[in-house]
Amino acid sequence: MTNEAGRRSRQNLTIGEAGLGNGTSSPWPPVADRMVRWVCAATLDDLWDGELLAVTLEDKDVVLCNVNGVVVAFRDCCPHLANPLSKGRLEAHILVCSAHEWEFDVRDGRGVNPATACLSAYPVRLEGDRILVDVGGSVR
Ligand code: FES
Repeated sequence: MTNEAGRRSRQNLTIGEAGLGNGTSSPWPPVADRMVRWVCAATLDDLWDGELLAVTLEDKDVVLCNVNGVVVAFRDCCPHLANPLSKGRLEAHILVCSAHEWEFDVRDGRGVNPATACLSAYPVRLEGDRILVDVGGSVR
């Protein structure tokens, strides 16, 4: 995405909103009592609004999503049959797996279809232009 609207939305990129927390001081999901290991996953130039990005952080495959300026990170593995979610597509805030069309709401990681599915989320925060992901352990 190289248009002006994309640049504007990227400048407004934040972590949080819509039940994800609200701001850069508190990562979402909340960091539980465990080993915290923040790793730089990408920069804001790498992840435009509406995009997915696959990254490998240490030994973990992670998919980053930017939806309306909110950055979230999930294990890059569909809970159905383990297809990489990064091969899917974002339709607004819905991540659709490319294999069998299971759908997930990236605002909270919950399944839309089927509703019983759930993604494993990693905490995300920004440090300047850098997107940091806590790979110390997924929250769920
Ligand atoms: S592997 Fe994702 S829907 Fe089947």
